[in-house]
Amino acid sequence: MSASARRIVLAARPQGEPKPSDFRSEDYTVPTPGEGQVLLRTIWLSLDPYMRGRMSDGPSYAAPVPVGGTMEGGTVCEVIASNDPGFAKGDIVLAHSGWQTHAVVDGKMLRKIDPALGPVQTAVGVLGMPGMTAYTGLLDIGQPKAGETVVVAAASGAVGSAVGQIAMVKGARAVGIAGGRDKCDYVKNELGFADCIDHRDPDFAAKLKAACPGGIDVYFENVGGAVFEAVFPLLNAFARMPVCGLIAQYNDTESSVPKWAGALMRNVLTKRLTIRGFIVSDFAGRRQEFLRDMSQWVKEGKVKYKEFVTEGLDSAPEAFMGLLKGANFGKQLVRVGPDKA
Ligand SMILES: NC(=O)c1ccc[n+]([C@@H]2O[C@H](COP(=O)([O-])OP(=O)(O)OC[C@H]3O[C@@H](n4cnc5c(N)ncnc54)[C@H](OP(=O)(O)O)[C@@H]3O)[C@@H](O)[C@H]2O)c1
Repeated sequence: MSASARRIVLAARPQGEPKPSDFRSEDYTVPTPGEGQVLLRTIWLSLDPYMRGRMSDGPSYAAPVPVGGTMEGGTVCEVIASNDPGFAKGDIVLAHSGWQTHAVVDGKMLRKIDPALGPVQTAVGVLGMPGMTAYTGLLDIGQPKAGETVVVAAASGAVGSAVGQIAMVKGARAVGIAGGRDKCDYVKNELGFADCIDHRDPDFAAKLKAACPGGIDVYFENVGGAVFEAVFPLLNAFARMPVCGLIAQYNDTESSVPKWAGALMRNVLTKRLTIRGFIVSDFAGRRQEFLRDMSQWVKEGKVKYKEFVTEGLDSAPEAFMGLLKGANFGKQLVRVGPDKA
């Protein structure tokens, strides 16, 4: 079997912000699946901030995409042909097949998606990696208690929106931080956070302080940079800080020790803060509990989610560059192909 396909490769490693010339699209012929392999057609491509890390070759927890290699990414795909008895033509699967319209993948790298749990693309959203990041980081590290204040930035996004809503399920008070009025209104009025502060507001630090009169018990760190500097003085004794992401710093080209590092360490000690970085895969064993709880909360309307969709594989580079600057309003997805071929 051969089919014409398209993929987007890393053309060059970005210096600072990625630019269009760092990506290149290529047409290619899909190879025939071998023994144990499955031919996939991509329906949804998930765009996620971690992809910025894969474009660089600095030290990291995961290997970089090689220059000339297909950009990495989670996908929802339809099985077109299968040489693995576990998968049949027409199955919808979760894959990590990257920025391409078709892929040949080992069957053991795939997981069938249960459409009864929700729209299939939630497998890369609220019921997938970002949702599980929120669930495990908040519950296992943040450990919010009823009445405590939980603060999260990028609060209208895939991870942040789930963090605040799970905090509310646990009886905590959620305060969001987001970029711009529309996002803040959505977080407050539609998701039900107690408050949401615009990090671009010139009075951001004072407004955040006013929104957290009892201080902050859990800060779910998604962004770093200037947001962290405003949050930090508000942390209560014994506050917990799951460090999930530092998107404000992903395009930085220098990595010197900042001036405030000494003050940070002094406060970690005197306030007995718990600061723990994590990668969602650290909690892979929690998948079944996560799916059970999160799908239930989504069904009950306790956790809502928003999608931000661009059309066609070729829209991926621009959508990804936008994601790093806050152009997305909700989980960033690329619709690569129709639900059914
Ligand atoms: N540790 C893990 O395993 C893991 C897994 C998934 C995600 N993450 C991390 O979680 C964070 C959120 O990811 P996501 O997928 O949910 O993305 P997202 O929130 O849907 O989109 C990224 C958002 O980051 C915000 N942002 C960008 N630059 C910013 C800046 N300079 N200051 C403040 N906010 C900025 C923007 O929102 P505003 O317009 O509201 O500012 C943007 O919309 C990222 O840091 C990501 O790397 C970590």
